[in-house]
Amino acid sequence: MKIIKLDAIDSTNTYLRQLSNTELLEDFTIVVAASQTAGKGQMGTTWSSEKGKNLTFSVFKKISCLDTDEGFYISMATSLAIYNALTYFQIPKLAIKWPNDILSESQKICGILIESVIQNSKMTAAIIGIGINVNQTKFENGLNASSLKKITGIHFDLDEVMFQLTNQLKKYSRLITDRSFDLLKTEYESLLFRKDKPSTFRKLNGDLLMGFIQGVGEDGKLNVLLEDEIVTAFDLKEIKLLY
Ligand code: BTN
Repeated sequence: MKIIKLDAIDSTNTYLRQLSNTELLEDFTIVVAASQTAGKGQMGTTWSSEKGKNLTFSVFKKISCLDTDEGFYISMATSLAIYNALTYFQIPKLAIKWPNDILSESQKICGILIESVIQNSKMTAAIIGIGINVNQTKFENGLNASSLKKITGIHFDLDEVMFQLTNQLKKYSRLITDRSFDLLKTEYESLLFRKDKPSTFRKLNGDLLMGFIQGVGEDGKLNVLLEDEIVTAFDLKEIKLLY
């Protein structure tokens, strides 16, 4: 496993993609940065993180066994790996908020941005970008963000957290290569935030929707039981689960 440590970079995901375009990367090449000047979040958002206090890194994972419509298994495996690594550090009340935010006590402590590397219309690798709030204690109001330190009062060693995370990522990426999809889906669904509880969602047009999360489809869509006992599948662009 090769780890590239950088002081500052625009985005570790962008850096790793550019590197993969110019050289043949070893499986599990990791780029970690003390600070990102243009950290990317999901759906075109930005990811900000105080320099040196948190973990912002990307993993180059070779994956050639998945069809393009099976990409969500990478999200499931990554979320589960992080969930388990954080369980090791006894972070309380962990949950996975669909599609792949990690929460503790209903606050976001980790975000994941997965980008696929496609060659000749086939996925050859994934760039798994992970941002974990570790020792930062101040967050912008309204973000509902927190960190390991803010929640536990403990200052964490970044290398130690990174070590647990990469171990778990290796373990869970084996489930992808073994195509143990049922196992991944069952464990992922069992840890979903607000599963089977009445929840509020915001639709693209701003309307609010009430329903019960039932699980996810193979394509990663969220299955929600709506009024009239109808189960509808929504994708990430269609709805946002409110806290
Ligand atoms: C989100 O929740 O919106 C996803 C955030 C992902 C942030 C990480 S930090 C390391 C990697 N590099 C990036 O530019 N983004 C991801």
